[in-house]
Amino acid sequence: VMYIVLPGIGGGTVGGGVYDLLTRRVSSPLATVSKICVRDLTKPRSFTVDPQTCTMTDKIDDVLNDDTLNCVVEVMGGTGIAKDVVLRALGKGKHVVTANKALIAEHLPEIQAAILSAPGGPSFAYEAAVCGAIPIINTLQTCYEGDVVTSVMGICNGTTNFMLCKMEGGEDYGEVLKEAQDLGFAEADPTADVEGHDVRAKISILAKLAYGVTVPISAIPTKGISSVTSVDFEYAKSMGCTIKLIGTAARTSEHGEHDGPLSVYVAPKMVPITHVMGGIGGAGNAVAVTSENMGMAAYTGPGAGRYPTANSIVADVMRIARGNQGEAFPKSAELELSTDYESAFYI
Ligand code: NAP
Ligand code: HSE
Repeated sequence: VMYIVLPGIGGGTVGGGVYDLLTRRVSSPLATVSKICVRDLTKPRSFTVDPQTCTMTDKIDDVLNDDTLNCVVEVMGGTGIAKDVVLRALGKGKHVVTANKALIAEHLPEIQAAILSAPGGPSFAYEAAVCGAIPIINTLQTCYEGDVVTSVMGICNGTTNFMLCKMEGGEDYGEVLKEAQDLGFAEADPTADVEGHDVRAKISILAKLAYGVTVPISAIPTKGISSVTSVDFEYAKSMGCTIKLIGTAARTSEHGEHDGPLSVYVAPKMVPITHVMGGIGGAGNAVAVTSENMGMAAYTGPGAGRYPTANSIVADVMRIARGNQGEAFPKSAELELSTDYESAFYI
């Protein structure tokens, strides 16, 4: 067991939740939060920091240059400063736990190189980056080693699922987006949610874990929900369906073999209400993984929000503290990418 002393870089929706869980709910702490870095020290916080045990700073170097801190939790978001933070922390041999799917999807090769060359072999963990509380990263890392995945498909964005459910009941797009923002589900720039960019990053990570293939986000055709209208819902209903924003990474199949090119894309789809994904409400997420040994296994749960997301971060921190965090990414593989997605409007 390793005693983790960690700073949170970011004290917002997720960072505040991580602090709360590690100070209030974890009864036998293997981890202490001793510093939290934020942008604006004067901003009111929705969590209370104990000044005896934890200091707040607005200087990232206070954290990165502190040799007593051995694990950085990056929950600031973005792909600029956050990238620098993650690469520098790994370069100093600090473990890194992040919820930042955009960063991983956009800079995977650099992150992998930094992990490999980091002194002391630090861990890099990112369970919170995909589907909030659902342990889909750990599941794909550990449960499919003797299996062959043929498709991964999911509702991977809580904001848009929340919005689509409300829009189906006749509520206004702008109002439900505002509600999702107020509830802490949306990204700092919610364009990433509604235009499908957040799901694009997540499905690229799931494709890496399921197939070993690095799929650049620029190669993932992406359509969000901003053009979904009430007429679409009426049409879906007439077919016993609802509409969900779905990320897909599937081997194409000509004769039931599923050995063709890899098709990765994001689009709103008709989903039968009887399907496991058709019944996901609120900010819920679901991932259906189809594999040769298991057939279809579905993983469902809360996909966004303070405590569901913080829970995944704390689980990563505890796995690292116990020395149980395995390889961050599988060995690299190559597969041809398919463009066979345009008619796939129905799951
Ligand atoms: P947030 O509420 O906006 O919090 C971001 C935090 O980072 C704030 O405390 C902010 O400081 C701090 N920060 C930003 N830039 C900084 C800088 N340059 N230096 C120091 N601190 C800085 O965002 P969030 O919702 O917690 O999301 C954080 C990350 O988690 C993102 O990568 C997001 O994609 C991911 N995520 C979020 C959810 C969710 O449900 N919200 C779920 C899964 C993953 P100030 O408070 O002073 O502004
Ligand atoms: N904005 C994201 C969502 C946060 O709504 O799913 C969780 O990754």
